[in-house]
Amino acid sequence: MPALLQLDRVTRRYALPRRSLLRAPAPLTAVSNVSLTLARGETLGVVGESGSGKSTLARLAMGFERPDEGAVCFDGKDLARLSKPELKALRPRFQMVFQDPYGSLDPRRRVGWSVAEPLRVLRREEPAVIESQVNAVLERVGLRVEDARKYPHEFSGGQRQRIAIARGIVTSPDLLIADEAVSALDVSVQAQILNLLMDLRDDMGLGLFFISHDLQVVSSISDRIVVLRQGEIVDDGPTDDVMFRSRNAYTRSLMAAAGWRAARDGQSAATDR
Ligand SMILES: Nc1ncnc2c1ncn2[C@@H]1O[C@H](COP(=O)(O)OP(=O)(O)OP(=O)(O)O)[C@@H](O)[C@H]1O
Ligand SMILES: [Mg+2]
Repeated sequence: MPALLQLDRVTRRYALPRRSLLRAPAPLTAVSNVSLTLARGETLGVVGESGSGKSTLARLAMGFERPDEGAVCFDGKDLARLSKPELKALRPRFQMVFQDPYGSLDPRRRVGWSVAEPLRVLRREEPAVIESQVNAVLERVGLRVEDARKYPHEFSGGQRQRIAIARGIVTSPDLLIADEAVSALDVSVQAQILNLLMDLRDDMGLGLFFISHDLQVVSSISDRIVVLRQGEIVDDGPTDDVMFRSRNAYTRSLMAAAGWRAARDGQSAATDR
């Protein structure tokens, strides 16, 4: 069986604006030669500082952008080789949750409308079928059926992230890509949302591609971690190996910055948190 998500030596460059008439600036390499694999039911975490290429990686994995080199495959299919209708037909199977639900939830639309949108766009379902699916998914993420009639501003940040997750899972995808999905939330609310994502992963057999600048958050949910620095993978492995046994100086500096004593002393598991 092919991997759910596979990136094979993926590079993505952006052209920079021209400042001089004499020479064009060198393009910026946002993602450089990245290879990774994510299986069904597994959580792969990506951690890196701001500007390290995390969101670019998410857009590539979603097929929103194409790599300049290398291939992005979902369930064995190279996204760049699919026609628009083929990509659209595949879309229900891989969905994304963003950091800022205000970006993905239209403030003028009722929550039920926004949660139903992927179903309306991607599959032509009857309104009654859509409504019952929306109700089920709202309850699944810990909201109430009545919430479908409210507007995004009537909810707390954590509830809005639940709405965004409901929208992400309404098509019963195989893969959910979460880009800084809990970064805007308080620590206690973060924990609730992380628990919800882990429950959904286990119940639905979701593959979770979990991206965050926060090493502690990433380590709490991921089976394996990839460390990204300036667009390149500098370290990767099972979460405990990366957290406590990494020999990589950059990973250890991230750990130390996050306050993990193990990284500073080279101890095997103890932390001072
Ligand atoms: N559309 C674009 N055009 C030009 N440069 C871009 C574009 N998108 C991203 N970049 C650049 O690519 C690099 C990686 O950006 P990216 O948004 O992927 O980083 P990130 O790790 O998600 O950062 P953050 O943690 O701040 O969200 C940055 O230098 C950024 O300025
Ligand atoms: Mg980002």
